Amino acid sequence: MRVRRCAVLFLESREDVDFDLESLLTGGAGLSRHQRWLALAAHLDAPVEVDSQERELLGRLSPSEWSAAESLEAAEESLLPNLIKRGLVLAEEEPDAPHRERDEALRAGHWWPAAAMMHRLARWEGVDSVSSMESNEMTTAADLRRKLGAPPIHALERVDAGERVALPRIDGNDFDAMLARRSTCRNFDSERPLSLPLFAHMMQRVFAAQSQVKVDEYTVFLKKNTPSGGGLHPTEAYLIVQNVEGLAPGLYHYHVVDHALEPLRTPDEPLEQFARRALAGQHWFSNAPAMAVLTPRYARSFWKYRQHAKAYRALVLDSGHLSQTLYLSATELGLGAFVTSAINEVDIERGFGLDPLVEGPLAICGFGWRAQTMSTSEFDPAQEVWLRTDEES
Ligand SMILES: Cc1cc2nc3c(=O)[nH]c(=O)nc-3n(C[C@H](O)[C@H](O)[C@H](O)COP(=O)(O)O)c2cc1C
Repeated sequence: MRVRRCAVLFLESREDVDFDLESLLTGGAGLSRHQRWLALAAHLDAPVEVDSQERELLGRLSPSEWSAAESLEAAEESLLPNLIKRGLVLAEEEPDAPHRERDEALRAGHWWPAAAMMHRLARWEGVDSVSSMESNEMTTAADLRRKLGAPPIHALERVDAGERVALPRIDGNDFDAMLARRSTCRNFDSERPLSLPLFAHMMQRVFAAQSQVKVDEYTVFLKKNTPSGGGLHPTEAYLIVQNVEGLAPGLYHYHVVDHALEPLRTPDEPLEQFARRALAGQHWFSNAPAMAVLTPRYARSFWKYRQHAKAYRALVLDSGHLSQTLYLSATELGLGAFVTSAINEVDIERGFGLDPLVEGPLAICGFGWRAQTMSTSEFDPAQEVWLRTDEES
């Protein structure tokens, strides 16, 4: 049998701290600590605990060259079946084994190892961020202040006031007024559908290719209204459409050149329930009429930026730029908009049929008509969006 180590592997020495009654009763701190080694592999769904012998062997096996298992000492060879079973070592004669297939997919994807690791480890499944925020009493600014103390200063000062060069304040124009009206919407009107032209206008502004350059049939570069690292525009919009006139509620993929929707399989649960799960329980966003899951196609970026230390960062920035275009486009059309990175990636991947090594979500943004009344708080100190009456203020 010939074997090699998986492509991307990091070892973490993790400390588990548990409550320990005996320690408390004998005058100790009431805590027990124990240290263990975890193998973090980007092609696996979860960390794998390894012992010191396994750790040493993993450090010696080549991730690139196949070597004969028989060339190892007997004690090391005996560790292989368990390492192979857990996907940390791959066997050459098992090309169809699921771990082997995932490892090959990772190798083919040109990921920078640390980015592959981060991408994998940051994914959530079934997390309810709202109830954990509530149970930890971390919902309001006052809660945060009480629990965490004062935050680092809101406006950084590097020199004394007298040394600062004052800039003139400029009277704003319509664009400034529009910027001032941009505010994260947490109160959508679930009863009021978006008209098809309004929805189409948003998609055209935010996600559509505006023009293109064709090097050859398979080498095409798109121009969009938003900048993109390397000009590659790798970020796809997977849509949760809940309330748009003339469109069946469901999941879609947006075709950026044809400016068209590609219907996908409907989830096995009510759409708003799926949306709420995707949004890690954030019910204040889950009734938005239209949402886009921002999902880079990693291969499109890594085609140019192979094993590149900045490539993943550029993709995160791309999503941020897209969401800002979406916010401003919505604001200009009189709509509310939001973005969130508190999402259950694994549930979303399952819903849309995505392979996270190939295309995995980074954020969700959405838009729609605002509700008449605010039930979840928004950040609008200048009252640009919500005009308070005298009784309320
Ligand atoms: C990257 C990013 C992630 C965000 N995630 C959340 C979120 O998980 N939940 C939420 O309610 N708002 C989220 N927001 C919105 C911010 O809370 C909001 O921008 C901030 O409070 C300032 O308010 P404003 O956007 O109305 O100016 C996010 C914004 C950004 C840019």
